Amino acid sequence: MTPIEPDAALLDTVRSAERVVVFSGAGMSAESGVPTFRDALTGLWARFDPTELATPQAWERDPDLVWAWYEWRAAMVRRVAPNAGHRAVADWARSAQLTVVTQNVDDLHERAGSAVAAHLHGSLYAPRCGGCTRPAELDDDRFDGMAEPAERMTPPSCVHCGAAVRPGAVWFGEPLPDAAWATAADAAENCDLMVVVGTSGVVYPAAELPLRAVRAGATVVEVNPQRTDLTDAVTHSWRVTAAEALPILAAVR
Ligand code: APR
Repeated sequence: MTPIEPDAALLDTVRSAERVVVFSGAGMSAESGVPTFRDALTGLWARFDPTELATPQAWERDPDLVWAWYEWRAAMVRRVAPNAGHRAVADWARSAQLTVVTQNVDDLHERAGSAVAAHLHGSLYAPRCGGCTRPAELDDDRFDGMAEPAERMTPPSCVHCGAAVRPGAVWFGEPLPDAAWATAADAAENCDLMVVVGTSGVVYPAAELPLRAVRAGATVVEVNPQRTDLTDAVTHSWRVTAAEALPILAAVR
């Protein structure tokens, strides 16, 4: 058996699963060229700790720095494409009842053709007013020519109340969006198969979803080239990448 061949029991589970959940993290988008948070740090990640920029305190302290970091990430994701893993998830949903729950703030699942049931950590493309919370309609043209990261950018002002527009991501210390969490928890507790792709499993409450699925009796398969905090809790741990594993799982009939 080569490392990228799944074992026969896993294939049987995939074949018979009626309700599938794909739960993705940053590793899902790594093969599209989007850096993860806790692997080798590159570019801006080498100079700033994402866990320190993604906080309400960082926003209070230096909104121009935080806004520039999110705008640069949003522009960077615009320049990359979904990978074979994202495309396989969208294909798989054509033949199974499949729910996509993601921690990712990118839109690569959607651009591959998936409907995402829950963006647990928000979205790079849903900025909103930091005061009145109304969505901010910003023009995507602003990403043109934003190839180089700027160290500081003044956030736009809300057209309704004049307060600064903030990124649409959920920051450390903030609650997850209620509807997204309810949808994700329900999907986790009512699936037969959960595929946990590309997450280190260290950020809660998101990392609780695979544990809830295991407790509810589902088969939980981890797709990750590395061991994670979830490895010992899941049913199968498969040391492969998202773009290697998902086309194999999606093709099982
Ligand atoms: N395929 C599958 N998994 C991969 C790949 C790949 N090609 N490349 C890397 N990985 C794995 C790494 O081994 C690691 O376990 O992806 C995981 C990425 O972990 P993190 O960077 O911690 O990302 P994630 O788990 O999504 O982080 C959770 O933390 O910073 C916050 O809000 C942010 O949503 C994020 C949350």
